[in-house]
Amino acid sequence: MNALPLQVRAALSTPTADNSQGHRLNLTRDTIQVAYRPHPGIDLFGPDGHATLIAFGALAHNALTVIGADQEQLAIAPRGADTILTLPRRDLPSDRGHPLFARHTNRFPYRHDAVPTDLQATLSSVTRPRVRLRLLTPGKSATRLIEVTRQCCQARFSNRELHEWLMGSLRFTPEEVARGDGLDIRTLHLPPFGAAFMRFIRPWSTMERLNRWFRIYKTMAATEVALLGKAPLIACVVGEDSRDGAFEAGRLMQQTWIRANNEGLAVHPYYVVADQQTRLNEGRLPPEWEEPVGTAIEELPQLLEFGKGERLHMMLRVGRPVNKAPVRSRRLPESKLVSGLPAG
Ligand SMILES: Cc1cc2nc3c(=O)[nH]c(=O)nc-3n(C[C@H](O)[C@H](O)[C@H](O)COP(=O)(O)O)c2cc1C
Repeated sequence: MNALPLQVRAALSTPTADNSQGHRLNLTRDTIQVAYRPHPGIDLFGPDGHATLIAFGALAHNALTVIGADQEQLAIAPRGADTILTLPRRDLPSDRGHPLFARHTNRFPYRHDAVPTDLQATLSSVTRPRVRLRLLTPGKSATRLIEVTRQCCQARFSNRELHEWLMGSLRFTPEEVARGDGLDIRTLHLPPFGAAFMRFIRPWSTMERLNRWFRIYKTMAATEVALLGKAPLIACVVGEDSRDGAFEAGRLMQQTWIRANNEGLAVHPYYVVADQQTRLNEGRLPPEWEEPVGTAIEELPQLLEFGKGERLHMMLRVGRPVNKAPVRSRRLPESKLVSGLPAG
């Protein structure tokens, strides 16, 4: 990736749901045009999906911040357009030291000590139009949010499409990891024999039986939220429930994440609540889950102090890491993601 313009390297390091990298960059002399790259196999989110717009917001932040233009207003194209985002291109010398390249996901346990209030203030000082950060420290509201998350996780682990997507994303062997996308199993915090268990439940028929016989979705949901329950800080990106709102939420998430990592704080996104909410809104939840998910997320407006027409876009678990250097996710080779003029 060394020969690539800095902005392009920054864009390619963007976080995406399950490291799916649903973007394609076309370089022209003055612009970087960003289009959606459909996911091979199950294409969970699509070009207009909420998670896609969040990731595009994060990508925009990365590409703009290296040219000192992170506050620039940008509009995403209307639904159906091929190029979703057009970024200004400026060729700059390589700066591998930029903090955005140190940003990463840390799914391991964090220390229990509180995040100092001055650091919380540093995080809160990040702002974007249409969206804002709501910080929860341990207490009643955090406990209720974790309960909402547990309920959404139960729905998630009972969902065939989400199960098959996750299983298709997991990378177990060095050869699979070398492909450069998906989730290297070593980036996950799994109990002993966790990787073997994940392989065992890979076929939906197995998971479906375990759910029916042993309600394993409940155990998996409890495991998934266990670390959230111990989090010294949960940062929630909330704001306008619209395409622009999701895009701005991605920009805010990324800015917050880079700043947190730069301050020595670890970050672990939890997207499950926002995803279940989107699925409910779009009528894409299995009927038996509409009521439990609907009831759970009814709590959010009061818990997170939504204004009219607002929603939750993303949750981040934040704290001091125990494991300061978790295995980092790779990226696909640039040849799969970049076309057009390579250098200015
Ligand atoms: C929209 C979105 C949703 C995500 N949801 C989750 C999540 O629910 N759980 C999780 O552990 N990581 C989640 N992630 C983190 C990605 O899996 C991670 O960014 C990706 O694997 C690349 O790794 P990196 O952040 O270390 O570069 C999410 C990221 C994005 C952008």
